[in-house]
Amino acid sequence: MTTAPGPNSFPVPYAGAERQSWRAIAKGLGRNALAGFPPRAFEEMAVARSFVGRQQIILSDPSGIRHILIENAENYRRTASVFRLLGPVLGNGLFLAEGEDWRAQRRTAAPAFAPRMMGSVAEHVARASDRLVGELAAQGGAEVNLFARLQLLTLEIAATALFSLDIAGEAPALRSEMRGYAGGIGRPTLLDFLTPRGLPVPRSWARWRFRRRWMARIAGIIAARRAEPMANPLANPLADPPRDLFDMMAAAAIGKRRLVEETATMLVAGQETTAIALLWSLYLAASVPGVQERIFAEAARLDLGPAGAAAALPHLVYARAVIDEALRLCPPAFSIVRQARSADEAGGVMIPARAVVLIVPWVLHRHHRLWRDPDNFDPSRFLPGAEPPARFSYLPFGAGPRACVGAQFALTESVLVLARLIQVFRIELAGDRPVLPLATITLQPDHSPPFRLLPR
Ligand code: HEM
Repeated sequence: MTTAPGPNSFPVPYAGAERQSWRAIAKGLGRNALAGFPPRAFEEMAVARSFVGRQQIILSDPSGIRHILIENAENYRRTASVFRLLGPVLGNGLFLAEGEDWRAQRRTAAPAFAPRMMGSVAEHVARASDRLVGELAAQGGAEVNLFARLQLLTLEIAATALFSLDIAGEAPALRSEMRGYAGGIGRPTLLDFLTPRGLPVPRSWARWRFRRRWMARIAGIIAARRAEPMANPLANPLADPPRDLFDMMAAAAIGKRRLVEETATMLVAGQETTAIALLWSLYLAASVPGVQERIFAEAARLDLGPAGAAAALPHLVYARAVIDEALRLCPPAFSIVRQARSADEAGGVMIPARAVVLIVPWVLHRHHRLWRDPDNFDPSRFLPGAEPPARFSYLPFGAGPRACVGAQFALTESVLVLARLIQVFRIELAGDRPVLPLATITLQPDHSPPFRLLPR
């Protein structure tokens, strides 16, 4: 049963046309990819269509998803367009690496994201949140562009927690480069999808120049860090443990260029997605009556400063449910794309060789056959005791061997920042223009809504 829309209803704002020409799909991809998902994708377990001569399948069937992301993951790779669009910013770091190279990188990086590291992540987050709270308090309730500030915050946290780098000085310039790329030559065009991997498209040259400039900038930032003596993890890991991800990568003796690209990957992948998750969570908490009061009631009695944040985390149960629910309604990684190496069958759906399979959290998380009241913001779905979501119906961080390595990091960070802001401020939207999701590389807000933060 579906209830009537109320203040907690955030319906799908773009009904993609039922039948779309490839021209319309291509045009939408550059503007707002959400318009490419027809209403029946939210009703049916698989929707197949032809996209410029190649089969594209929007797959929501949980057993089919499990097959593709886990059981037969080896048969599926990232598409040429993903390499083309993300390569200039991520390089050949963990996200885009393949085969043995990927396995080695994942083995090196995983310990930095293990549960035992989350205490130290919490401390870094709390320290950065303290600075943010101080800055925002000084604004005295004036309108603030919170999204821009959150983007700097998440970049600073990734840099300090993973690389022991203080990049407060460089962060605005890095953000501006990223924004310029994503809004300009990083936007997909039809040729990005049509041209086989390895062949150039008209924007390749500009993207190559961007990549050189961007990686040189990252290399400059980590030069100072490279000069520091490395804790030697081989000597005695307990007495002299690696300090951070940087030490772990350096201990794995990877080359200088790879170190730069891996750093770029972690800074970018961990930054934009988490800032977006926080923005949506704050927007929803400010829009739906009662939500922030409940977070405040939980956070008020906790020490969320550097000394107490790690211990407070398990008590932020409702704040965590708000983050989980925001990630359901507005998943920053809105689409997980794979291309079949050879023909296969997934959940009863035939997948021809070279077909592109779209596993779309944006669709999956609002699927009418998988969720009750899918368009309603209802954090209680994720509270302890609630029936857990059906397996493979909730994938904000993907699944299987290529699932997000930073999921716990992102959750630790988002929950603590959300709770800390609401512990100190009452959050209000300063305008009444609704914020709509817009998908290019990630699921962004279509504009940066002005907020007012009033000290409690
Ligand atoms: C709310 C925040 C985040 C979201 C929604 C998110 C989402 C995702 C998703 C869906 C994938 C899988 C993509 C696929 O299978 O094609 C992924 C992979 C990845 N994420 Fe995240 N992520 C977040 C935060 C982070 C953070 C904080 C880091 C690191 C600091 C990070 C680093 C990565 C990397 C390196 C991969 C590639 C893993 C691999 O291929 O082995 N992410 N992320």
